[in-house]
Amino acid sequence: MIILGIETSCDESAVAIVKDGREVLSSVLYSQVQEHLAFQGVVPEIASRSHLKELLPICRQALQQAHMDFDQIDAIAVTSKPGLMGALMVGVVFAKSLAYALKKPLIDVHHIYGHLVSISLQEKPIQFPLIALIASGGHTTLVQMNSFFEFTILAKSIDDAAGEALDKAAKLLDLGFPGGPAIEAFANGGNSNAFDFPMPLKGELNFSFSGLKTSLLHKIQKHPNMNAQEKKDMTASFQETIMNSLCEKLALAQEKTGIDNLAICGGVAKNQVLRDKIGSLVQGGELYMTPMAYCTDNAAMIAAAAFYTQQKDGFAGLDLIPKASAPML
Ligand code: KG4
Ligand code: ZN
Repeated sequence: MIILGIETSCDESAVAIVKDGREVLSSVLYSQVQEHLAFQGVVPEIASRSHLKELLPICRQALQQAHMDFDQIDAIAVTSKPGLMGALMVGVVFAKSLAYALKKPLIDVHHIYGHLVSISLQEKPIQFPLIALIASGGHTTLVQMNSFFEFTILAKSIDDAAGEALDKAAKLLDLGFPGGPAIEAFANGGNSNAFDFPMPLKGELNFSFSGLKTSLLHKIQKHPNMNAQEKKDMTASFQETIMNSLCEKLALAQEKTGIDNLAICGGVAKNQVLRDKIGSLVQGGELYMTPMAYCTDNAAMIAAAAFYTQQKDGFAGLDLIPKASAPML
């Protein structure tokens, strides 16, 4: 089944064409990051207007890259939840219009389920069961997946998401936006043992990151005249603690469930410190890391997830409406 996926839940406008949930035929993305840079965060109204402007040209590009016409597409998939309401609305209306005009079925995709399915956009076929960590700007969730259709949520953050903590920390450290990549770049060459940060909720499966951010604020206030190297050391130590906390929970979940296979996805899964650490957690099982290009928001993960969503829940009606928040289960 060849699915054209559309993603507009936040500040990336994206269209992709994916065959049978795995084979990416094209994936086109317009990142609005430059448009939001001056505000050090995503401005919802700017995001919606930009999606409106970019979506059609991107869609044409996605078809061109896949050497396809609309008549070769079997279904149209769209992220309808969760996300910025105005931004979602642009994608959903665009998808419904395409589905109606082309007489193609419509598939309603949950954005976070899209991140979860992105683990399969690489060569290794997935062996279940596995423990997946979804670490994005809005979610930090541990999921036990028994198949693409059957999964349970083992833990989540009780406050900030990991990406959110990195974004807020980057603001405190004056490193720019988005925070995750800015922190990773600046921390390079820093001593990650130089500063002590408390390990949040040690021994528990749930995550917590807001205390770490407060701890960072106190350290910055205590060292008002840091030189560049000291600031690098502090940034590296903060990043290390976040990544260690994510790894600690993954190891604990392995211990509690007896499942060795691990997977990571979501924007934070792009972090090389995390990617390097995670290998040592898997002893005899398999490790699945979403490829870098599909960690942050993209439409390939939406078209891939749609393949499974449609098998489980069928097609959506043209009365589909977006939802700003919605649980994955
Ligand atoms: O999955 P995503 O694109 O959007 C959401 O669904 O939230 O994730 C965005 C998050 C941001 O918080 C960003 O700072 C973080 O992913 N991020 C990173 C890296 N690249 C993006 N965090 C750590 N290291 C990175 N290289
Ligand atoms: Zn996302």
